[in-house]
Amino acid sequence: MEINWKKEAWNFIEEKTILNNDRIGVNFPHVSENKHYKLENEQWWTAGFWPGILWQVYLKNKNEKLKITAEKCEMKMKHLLCDTEIIDHDLGFMWILTSLANYKITGNKESRRRALLAANLLMGRFNIKGNYIRAWNAWKGNKDNTGVVIIDCMMNLPLLYWASEETGDPRFKHVAEKNGEMVLENFIRADGSVQHMVIFDSETGEVIEKAGGQGFDANSAWARGCAWAIYGLTLSYKYTKNNEFLEAAKKTAHYFIANMKDDKYPVWDFRLPKDGEIKYKYPDSSAGAIAACGLLLLSKYVCEFESSLYMEAGEKMLKNLYYECATNDDIEEEGLIKHATGHFPEQKNLDVPIIYGDYFFTEGIAMLNGEKMLFW
Ligand code: GLY
Repeated sequence: MEINWKKEAWNFIEEKTILNNDRIGVNFPHVSENKHYKLENEQWWTAGFWPGILWQVYLKNKNEKLKITAEKCEMKMKHLLCDTEIIDHDLGFMWILTSLANYKITGNKESRRRALLAANLLMGRFNIKGNYIRAWNAWKGNKDNTGVVIIDCMMNLPLLYWASEETGDPRFKHVAEKNGEMVLENFIRADGSVQHMVIFDSETGEVIEKAGGQGFDANSAWARGCAWAIYGLTLSYKYTKNNEFLEAAKKTAHYFIANMKDDKYPVWDFRLPKDGEIKYKYPDSSAGAIAACGLLLLSKYVCEFESSLYMEAGEKMLKNLYYECATNDDIEEEGLIKHATGHFPEQKNLDVPIIYGDYFFTEGIAMLNGEKMLFW
């Protein structure tokens, strides 16, 4: 009899999350080292992923303890919304998986208010000359970051699309669409690979530089950036029904699928120098988990003849992640999936469990088990 691996994978996620709820509690885990998640403060861009996992599991099992922890995480984050100097464009990642998830699941009015406030702050980062949402603040000394844009921002846009639907005010979605169109022009390459970073002149709106960011270099194809593009473009299509977003999502999906070759999970950059293959060849399971969620969603928006391509590729990716990366044989390990790489150019967090890999693995397996609610 064939094993129901999707159910088995979900049971593993649920059991470990219940265990992690006691071990991690009201905190913001980022990277697991020596089996334990290192914690960041609530300001770090990854703060939403642990509460997001808790909400995903709560949706299925209605375990009140998980809900309470997720709500307490949100409470611990809420002061951030009062300080525009410490927030950046990752307002989407942070508040979609906390306040917006809470509101969608429980109808909590305070959470709705926080999600709308976050949307207003995100909209306020829009630069009208370059049609982009500014990524970061001047974290390091006096470095001018006013013109920096990264592909990851495509995953922040659903907060704006939601805010327009929720309030009936189209301003939010206008900003999201403009940023999306700017991405089509400047980030998505003809072959479907994706630029990680583009730097604009924030006064004139002209492109100054295309940079490598977390990828190997300016011309490489950072796998997680490609994955953010697949999912982010598909979400932009979901909200706008603009075919250009759908076509670009398909193109980035094809690039990703073709570059998987026979690998079980992605390498961190699809375009590495041949002579350095061993030295550079680190895995990034998180890119696989993000791409899989994007592919599953994409399969719903294409005609029936195309749908199975994306559905099967997403499902295959999650199955491989479960069999090759899941920590189901190691109760001590807090991470759900191994083999993610955070920041290769800075040589940080190489081949470890990372909380966003865990989150998207959870979301993808939930989708495969029939979950209909989408937080994004
Ligand atoms: N820059 C966010 C990420 O590592 O994907």
